[in-house]
Amino acid sequence: MSLKLNKRVEKIRPYIPGKPEEVLRRELGIDRIIKLASNENPLGTSPKAIEALKKEITKSYFYPDDTYYSLKNKLSKHYNVPADWIILGSGSVELIKMAANLVLDEGKYAIVSKNSFLMYKKVVQEFAGDEYIIWVDTTEDYEYDLKGYEKALNSDKNISILFIANPNNPTGSYIPAKKLYNFIKNTPEEVLIILDEAYVEYADAEDYESGLQWIKEFPNLFLIRTLSKAYGLAGLRVGVGFAQKELIDILMKVRLPFNVSRLAAVAAEAAIDDKDFLELSFKTNKKGKEFLYRELTNIGFKVFPSQTNFLMFIPSVNPKILIKKLEKEGIILRPLDPFEIPEAIRITIGTMEQNKILIETLKKILKEF
Ligand SMILES: Cc1ncc(COP(=O)(O)O)c(C=O)c1O
Repeated sequence: MSLKLNKRVEKIRPYIPGKPEEVLRRELGIDRIIKLASNENPLGTSPKAIEALKKEITKSYFYPDDTYYSLKNKLSKHYNVPADWIILGSGSVELIKMAANLVLDEGKYAIVSKNSFLMYKKVVQEFAGDEYIIWVDTTEDYEYDLKGYEKALNSDKNISILFIANPNNPTGSYIPAKKLYNFIKNTPEEVLIILDEAYVEYADAEDYESGLQWIKEFPNLFLIRTLSKAYGLAGLRVGVGFAQKELIDILMKVRLPFNVSRLAAVAAEAAIDDKDFLELSFKTNKKGKEFLYRELTNIGFKVFPSQTNFLMFIPSVNPKILIKKLEKEGIILRPLDPFEIPEAIRITIGTMEQNKILIETLKKILKEF
């Protein structure tokens, strides 16, 4: 390659998402595919959002309103946050990238937890370089280790950003509110804190709390949500970021114009209004999670508690072989070697029908080992 690539790019590996349904269908030539690999909503998209999409589709030739006035006002009321404390992204991944773009550079470090969402590593590689990542190990149970973060903050490195997913992907673990709040309070104001709450709508532990209202207190806190999970809009790409106006204004400098499509914006508005869909999504997930937790444990797998719409488990057999065998049966799960937990597998909670098929198929396959 004769291009004059910047040296950071060489170290970046393209993101490998969960295997798409279409790919396996092509590979196997079978119709029934159950994809439980990308933490999508198994109930699909809110009917209200679908209605809104149908109405808007004929306006697709128009650019969106780049101020996103209507959607931001809806979000402002819904979350009780001023509209100018909100920024939208093409999925929350774009917001993560914008934040990294603001503060990272060669020589500036980022704190990233091992066994967490892969995008954090990727954006640091892109804007600073691989060598500027300070990795913090997770605990024995693969939980975030805030003590490790504190230690990194107290080092002599020039740290500009840190990333926290709460609850975490792919482990499903969470950080209790008090602990996280105290950590944020003790973090120097010049360090940008990314608090990623992609799975907040599923979390119901007594000591879990969203950090949304904390943004009033901490000018360096950027809180990120997504409509890809509980709101069922993964295919449309809508992320929502919250921070004090001053930080939002700086983030706006690196935002691409029209970064949320017209269709995505109207669907997001309708989805936010669809309380029934959200409630059904939560209940279906909770029931499915309890079912899968029990069944997978009974099968003899080590299953980790989860505050999300997925479970991480360590199977009693080789995970790679197990995943391959399941794929042959049309079921897609997520291998966790990219997350550096090669011994484990992640499964998105499906509909009860999907969950039951998964368990039956697993039992059949395990006899072959
Ligand atoms: C922790 C976490 N953050 C962010 C995202 C990105 O979601 P999206 O870009 O679809 O909003 C995901 C997706 O899996 C995630 O697990």
